[in-house]
Amino acid sequence: MGVIEDSGVQGLPVGAHVLHDYGWRDRAVLSLDECTLIDAAHDPKLSLGVLGLTGMTAWVGLRKVAQACEGDTVFISSAAGAVGSAAVQLALATGCTVIGSAGSRAKCESVLRLGAHAVFNYRDGSIRDQLRASLERVGKTGIDVYFDNVGGEQLEAAIREMAVHGRIALCGMTSAYSASTPQPGPSNLLKLVWNRVRMEGFLLRDHRADKSEFLAEMSAAVEENTVRSLDTVLPGGLAVAWESFSRMREGAFVGKVIIDL
Ligand SMILES: NC(=O)c1ccc[n+]([C@@H]2O[C@H](COP(=O)([O-])OP(=O)(O)OC[C@H]3O[C@@H](n4cnc5c(N)ncnc54)[C@H](OP(=O)(O)O)[C@@H]3O)[C@@H](O)[C@H]2O)c1
Repeated sequence: MGVIEDSGVQGLPVGAHVLHDYGWRDRAVLSLDECTLIDAAHDPKLSLGVLGLTGMTAWVGLRKVAQACEGDTVFISSAAGAVGSAAVQLALATGCTVIGSAGSRAKCESVLRLGAHAVFNYRDGSIRDQLRASLERVGKTGIDVYFDNVGGEQLEAAIREMAVHGRIALCGMTSAYSASTPQPGPSNLLKLVWNRVRMEGFLLRDHRADKSEFLAEMSAAVEENTVRSLDTVLPGGLAVAWESFSRMREGAFVGKVIIDL
């Protein structure tokens, strides 16, 4: 995201915030059709988070892929992350019972503050046992929707608890991104057969046509305060960008990570 410093174009006033595809940089010279003007009614930071690609990823996964409905029990991994924290809030706004997982006590607390009904630290003992215990704590016997950000052991544990006609939205596989050898797949896929569970991967770029539907719902949720930004804003500009990106992947920060230029 950038701020217009100089402009000869009507509709792009100096001081306006715009999104562009020119990557991390101090300055860029852009034509009008390369800029997406940010609605000045919102904090511009929201357009990098819950009102941007991050929020739309959560929305597509829950609404379009998993078709989460009121009354569903929804499990969300990396629940304190950028996409995960948006998914937690959307699921709660839909009237779902929400269980989250995250990698530290502080992150678990931030997920509870978002309103999740139960949360566990996946680094704190058996994932299987903690997920089962979380279901018992919220008084549910199975998961209707699993929003998977991480793959690996958490995916296997979720499959084990899926309810009949459950849906798994495969958003990403953070646990495999830094692995140096191929990761084994879940050993319990037969459970998907017995319980007629649908597991579907998705990419945001296939859902561009849904953008106005997403923005209408999410902007209203932000205005009603049912969805808010969870983010970490880092000072230091481009000099810290790459190191911060790596540290984000390792779990150093909560929510959307924004580098202040
Ligand atoms: N399908 C799409 O179109 C689409 C679009 C955008 C993003 N994505 C995917 O969505 C997922 C979430 O993206 P995001 O931007 O919101 O990132 P994020 O969840 O904020 O990612 C960083 C977090 O991943 C967690 N993590 C790191 N290593 C892990 C491991 N081995 N096991 C479990 N968790 C681990 C860490 O949290 P903890 O401290 O809690 O471990 C870290 O804070 C990613 O997989 C991303 O690739 C998909």
